[in-house]
Amino acid sequence: MAPSAVKQPSTVSTFEAKGAPIIDRTKTTAVNMEGLKYPEYYPHNEPGDKFPDAEPFEYHDRALDADPTMPVFYNDHVQIEEVGYGQWSIESSTVSFFLVNLTPFIGVKVTGLDLATLDEAGQDQLALLAAKKGIVFFASDDKVKQTFRDISQKRKLEMVRYYGQLHKNSVQPRTHDSTEISVVYQDNINTVRVRSSPNKPNKQFSNCPLVNYVAKILQKHWWPNRLSRAVWHIDQSQEHQPPGMTFFCCMQADAPTGGDTLVGSLVEAYERLSPPMKQFLCGLRAVHSSKVMSAKAARVGGALRKNDIESSHPVVYEQPATGLKSIYINPERISHFEGLRHEESEWLLRFLSDYLTKSADFHARYKWSEGDVCVWDQRVCLHSAVLDNMDYRRHFIRITALAGIPKQATYTPPTYEDKYAY
Ligand SMILES: [Fe+2]
Repeated sequence: MAPSAVKQPSTVSTFEAKGAPIIDRTKTTAVNMEGLKYPEYYPHNEPGDKFPDAEPFEYHDRALDADPTMPVFYNDHVQIEEVGYGQWSIESSTVSFFLVNLTPFIGVKVTGLDLATLDEAGQDQLALLAAKKGIVFFASDDKVKQTFRDISQKRKLEMVRYYGQLHKNSVQPRTHDSTEISVVYQDNINTVRVRSSPNKPNKQFSNCPLVNYVAKILQKHWWPNRLSRAVWHIDQSQEHQPPGMTFFCCMQADAPTGGDTLVGSLVEAYERLSPPMKQFLCGLRAVHSSKVMSAKAARVGGALRKNDIESSHPVVYEQPATGLKSIYINPERISHFEGLRHEESEWLLRFLSDYLTKSADFHARYKWSEGDVCVWDQRVCLHSAVLDNMDYRRHFIRITALAGIPKQATYTPPTYEDKYAY
């Protein structure tokens, strides 16, 4: 089936970002179903979608119920590797699946175990594993395929709802049938993501002047004058009860390479700080705001389904299940730190953002295969997409469970041994 341009009803917001053009998607949305493997997960914006603020709810961290030894993941049938993905070998006939630590500080890859088959005990242990490792990737191998991609939308939602109230995204496309499944999508004609640099001729768009025009607007206003498209962030941290467990599944990835995901450990980032800096940050709170996200949606004519929201969260977040402390900084959403002067606030956000995003020695990078799915705990993990190959379809879905109100960590003075470690 050839790609076709289809007019869709307007989703243009009345919010008008200063100086930015408003794009009418009734004239620009291109639907490209050619070669699409999961059309029921195609990005959809329902006209008139309006979501209320998330209701407060009683949160229970499932990791608290987990067997601390995590026997589903650590048992006699598991081979644990530290050497990096793709390099393991079977050394024992009792081995049925594999755990591979992506790096010493963040990320583990599981093969030989189907995420979708975990029972409640397994799901509890997964919450604990994510709290400790930051992110858990599940991949298929010759014997065991991941089936999360193929189970129904209803079953997917049930699995994630086990961890908390599901989040409805204000701006991101969703599936036609669910307001709680966000769709992350690009292809070679779609304008959901921009492709190429502003100086590079875009042949795909050249046949359609209107879409070509939109692409240029997006290039100018989505990543204005930026060298890199890496955008490190925590999802939806502006919520009063921001996300915890989050599922992200690769429905389709056509590119021969590229489109990876970067993750960074917010726990290790805290651990490395000096005692005076830890003490300072433990007493500080930051205001997370949705306004940057809303303004971007307004500029590109995207959906805007919720009122703006902002929340004050502690800069150092103490995890309910592990007691680990993490630097809860979202470079994309923090407007300021409470109590600091403007220049102090600007400086601190720049320092922490640079530190978190440039410290490759507590980062990991994952190369996706179709059907892979990851589960991460947003409270301990920063992430970014790698948008380095915009000429191919990249189709993911994300389902997000909200967690509790962040607990402000109490500073713990260093022990005698700690002092002499510096
Ligand atoms: Fe994200």
